[in-house]
Amino acid sequence: MQLHLPLNGEGPLRSRLYRDLRNALLDGRLQRGERLPPSRTLAGELGLSRQLVVEAYERLVAEGFLVSRPGSGTFVERLPPGRQNAVTPVGVKPGAHWPMRPLWGDMPARRYNFAGGVTERSQLPWQAWRRCMQQAMRDEQAESRLYGDPQGDLRLRRGLADYLGFSRGLPCDREQLLITQGAQQGLDLLARVRLAPGDVVALEEPGYPPARSVFEAAGARLVSVPVDQEGICVEQIPADARLVYVTPSHQFPLGMPMSLPRRLALLELARRRDMLIVEDDYDGEYRFAGRPLEALKRLDNHQQVAYLGTFSKVLHASFRMGYIVMPDGLRDALLQAKFLSDAYSNALTQRALGHLIEQGDFARHLRRMQRRYIGRRNRLLAALETVSDFQVMPQMAGLHMAVGISTDPASMDALLEREQVTATPLADFYAQLLPMSGVLLGFGALADESIEDGVSALARALLHD
Ligand SMILES: Cc1ncc(COP(=O)(O)O)c(C=O)c1O
Repeated sequence: MQLHLPLNGEGPLRSRLYRDLRNALLDGRLQRGERLPPSRTLAGELGLSRQLVVEAYERLVAEGFLVSRPGSGTFVERLPPGRQNAVTPVGVKPGAHWPMRPLWGDMPARRYNFAGGVTERSQLPWQAWRRCMQQAMRDEQAESRLYGDPQGDLRLRRGLADYLGFSRGLPCDREQLLITQGAQQGLDLLARVRLAPGDVVALEEPGYPPARSVFEAAGARLVSVPVDQEGICVEQIPADARLVYVTPSHQFPLGMPMSLPRRLALLELARRRDMLIVEDDYDGEYRFAGRPLEALKRLDNHQQVAYLGTFSKVLHASFRMGYIVMPDGLRDALLQAKFLSDAYSNALTQRALGHLIEQGDFARHLRRMQRRYIGRRNRLLAALETVSDFQVMPQMAGLHMAVGISTDPASMDALLEREQVTATPLADFYAQLLPMSGVLLGFGALADESIEDGVSALARALLHD
């Protein structure tokens, strides 16, 4: 890359060049060990005689900042004292409204990997994806528009609408679909269009921390609502909530589905109180037992529900692909918010995904993964059931399960690390209520052959403090 030396200011060119090079050492543009451009190249770029550049380099060599290595070039040897002792200025800070909390990030992959939210990269349909990417590139090459549609690629929306109707029992029109960068952007857009600072948001507790953080960042007042074996305790939702966030297919993190009476009660409350229900269906594609319950959105006769879907579990989180089935009243505002946020999601990925769905590779992949995960889930359940002190929460869908324990080991993180187990303490999913003791066990990336040993290691970590 070209080194930016403005040569402005007073004095002869010779001194300006020397000063600019020294400044580049001082402000970090030149790092220790870095090679400077050959004197002939720099002279050409700056429109100076080569002799001037050679002199400036020689002066910095004499001062010990540069070193000349015959045959290989001139390198930074030492940094000027101002740089070594420099104190980085604090600079500007976020506004006081900004909630500075640690975000939920990647977990260390230890020997027994029960990390939640993870799927196996190696199992992705890479060959089909390569083919679809090629097609997407050809489409892009032939495209004449500068910007794409904020709502999302038409082929992808068409494919998704068919998939949702056929496989998820959620008939919808492509005009109701908005393609987002994962469910996370869907949450952000919904918060933007629905919430003003101070508005009340009701959330399941325990619950999904990134959803909490989005609503908090929007300035909402968060109210935690407990869940029981039927899902969110609807009667405890505050009457003035403008938005209720729920995970009805597979409560995050405890795992139970929301019962039909609860679903109906929630819809009725939302209708009476003009609440928006955000239904996060993040891994409901994986159903292992029982009859599938209809999505809340399917029962939404009054346009109160925004349904969030994601490809993070059916493909991989790194695709950053998700969607909202929008309630009619929010449609125009959501399209505007999407445009203001990032204009539209990456065109190549959208197009390739549209092809993947249209050509049947997505459905084939999903069927294969469903078979793969059901075996793993059953084997994990069987291993957990051999430990009498583990209380396995009912789990009929999704890629994780929750295990309760009656004791509350201090420093659970350290114990898990000692036993080489990656798992999340349930306490991490509580913000206001008294946490239940236990762990969330993801099995999306768990090696089948490590299940039994992993459960023994887990028991050592949690039960024999
Ligand atoms: C409750 C919940 N919602 C949504 C997601 C997916 O988020 P995204 O689509 O932004 O990757 C996850 C992933 O772990 C999740 O657990």
